[in-house]
Amino acid sequence: MSWSSSGGPGRIAGDGAVVARAPAKINVHLAVGPLRPDGFHELRTVYLAVSLFDTVTVRPGNGLALSVTGEGTTGTGPDAVPTDHRNLVWRAAELLAQRAGVALDATITIDKSIPAAAGLAGGSADAAAALVALDALWGTHATRGELAALAAQLGSDVPFSLHGGIALGSGRGEQLSPVLARRRWDWVLGIAGEGLSTPSVYAELDRLRDDGRVPDGGVLASPEPVIAALRSGPVSALAAALANDLQPPAVSLRPALRRALRAATDAGAPAAIVSGSGPTVAALADDEDGAVRLAAELAGMGVYRTVRAVHGPVPGARLVG
Ligand code: C5P
Repeated sequence: MSWSSSGGPGRIAGDGAVVARAPAKINVHLAVGPLRPDGFHELRTVYLAVSLFDTVTVRPGNGLALSVTGEGTTGTGPDAVPTDHRNLVWRAAELLAQRAGVALDATITIDKSIPAAAGLAGGSADAAAALVALDALWGTHATRGELAALAAQLGSDVPFSLHGGIALGSGRGEQLSPVLARRRWDWVLGIAGEGLSTPSVYAELDRLRDDGRVPDGGVLASPEPVIAALRSGPVSALAAALANDLQPPAVSLRPALRRALRAATDAGAPAAIVSGSGPTVAALADDEDGAVRLAAELAGMGVYRTVRAVHGPVPGARLVG
């Protein structure tokens, strides 16, 4: 790949900062196939980008420096956010600089609202926002397709964080086809105090399958019912179509999730599922007012560390300002 970096910097504010943000996601359908030889599982998933955003600010610098503020700065388990090469943003910067042939010079701040290790693709959102912001800072002028190719190398969910909206994901999740839906969907996210590691949830699924405790994944459930429901509703159709093969292993590793899921439907949510590999509970709401009421009710129950009323679809990683 040879990109022109001769155009100089892109959209840069007075102090040299470039800001981008990217959304969290919910998987409204997540069918997981058997373990592949490459260590990933074949997926059929329907991603929905929702209105909880991380912001990435990049400034000119000498070498690479990374800092994190907001959610995830106090975690000590899988939800601790590293500030070195283990952070996907660091790897995104290295990959873009290498492909574009520019020096790896940037001072990067990640301001997190999306909790880490929550099943909301927070790390992927950060990487997608970093690609967009650094492309502007460095003037690398990558096309959206070129950024998508880099995103796919960084992680299974990063292409969707770049894309946003609603998309059908296949392969390990990185191959996307857009899904168009005009209506808005309201949700409440019930966020747990402690994260879950994605690889351990997939490994638990493999164990449950080996023991014959859940179906083997040889036949992937069709995403069509959920896609049809997303397009035209009603809420009851989407409620009935929600499905996540990672829910049983997430509940197996974190039994408290059973109660967290029940709390949402007890509070009046038409349906609730574990988001991705969890442990966030995504509770569907009837509409915007319903989500506000549901959020208030769930906040009062004390089952979650925090709750957030969100809606989707929303756009993927974009420059801000
Ligand atoms: O692609 P990503 O880095 O997000 O994946 C993290 C881990 O989740 C992988 O190392 C793998 O253990 C698991 N995974 C999987 N199948 C997928 C996606 C992720 O087994 N399709």
